[in-house]
Amino acid sequence: MTILRVEGISKSYSGALALDNLSFELQAGEIIAMIGPNGAGKTTCFNILHGQLRADSGQVFVGDACTSRMDTPAILRLGVGRTFQIAATFHSFTVAENVQMALLARRGLLWNLHSQAGDLCRKEADQLLEQLGMLAHAARACSVLSYGDLKRVELAMALAGDPILLLMDEPTAGMAPRERLQLMALVVRLARERKLSVLFTEHDMDIVFAHADRILLLEQGRLICQGTPAMVRADPRAQRAYLGDNRD
Ligand SMILES: Nc1ncnc2c1ncn2[C@@H]1O[C@H](COP(=O)(O)OP(=O)(O)O)[C@@H](O)[C@H]1O
Ligand SMILES: [Mg+2]
Repeated sequence: MTILRVEGISKSYSGALALDNLSFELQAGEIIAMIGPNGAGKTTCFNILHGQLRADSGQVFVGDACTSRMDTPAILRLGVGRTFQIAATFHSFTVAENVQMALLARRGLLWNLHSQAGDLCRKEADQLLEQLGMLAHAARACSVLSYGDLKRVELAMALAGDPILLLMDEPTAGMAPRERLQLMALVVRLARERKLSVLFTEHDMDIVFAHADRILLLEQGRLICQGTPAMVRADPRAQRAYLGDNRD
């Protein structure tokens, strides 16, 4: 089943083309890495997929729904979640409160937290934190967490929306190499368990080749190569454009 279908999207900023007729599909349960040098258009693509930006032309479908003109809340309601390059949590709130807020937001009940409804969704929040190995940190303020732990909280918040598709733009940016591998291994395990589709960007080719079912290689806004890790690794265009020393 196709979860995401991108049909020929283009986007320019003041005349400079950032995405050039980009098309690709993502199937249910698939984990896809979008790679390419800085400025290739990856974040622009993510912003269009999540409704922060409009494409100049082309269309995006989530399932059967055309999302090209939808705003972010509507796209979230279709089950498309997102994590950000810089972890986005509320620092003065505890880990559990952050996840509770995400759970309440999904139900349209965010105002309830205001009335000291500290127990709302607490059990569900704890279950999510347990899956992410963060339950022991539930009562700590996010402001005192390590960056890697903060990323896990952010992931818990994204999963609280019960997405069918998760967009992760450089989920491991700013993390130490070991933490990076651990976080991606966790994402992949949870995605497989939940039959969740994931589209992520990542600069570390070890992570990409270890975890992606399929890879999309972008260069100057164009898709220059796509396929399984083995196919991309063997593709001369990919080797020339980006992979450098990472090829076998
Ligand atoms: N808000 C913006 N205004 C003008 N140019 C932008 C903006 N965002 C991105 N760009 C340009 O669009 C191109 C693609 O950028 P981006 O989507 O951030 O690429 P990536 O995430 O692959 O590094 C780059 O040339 C970048 O400079
Ligand atoms: Mg980017």
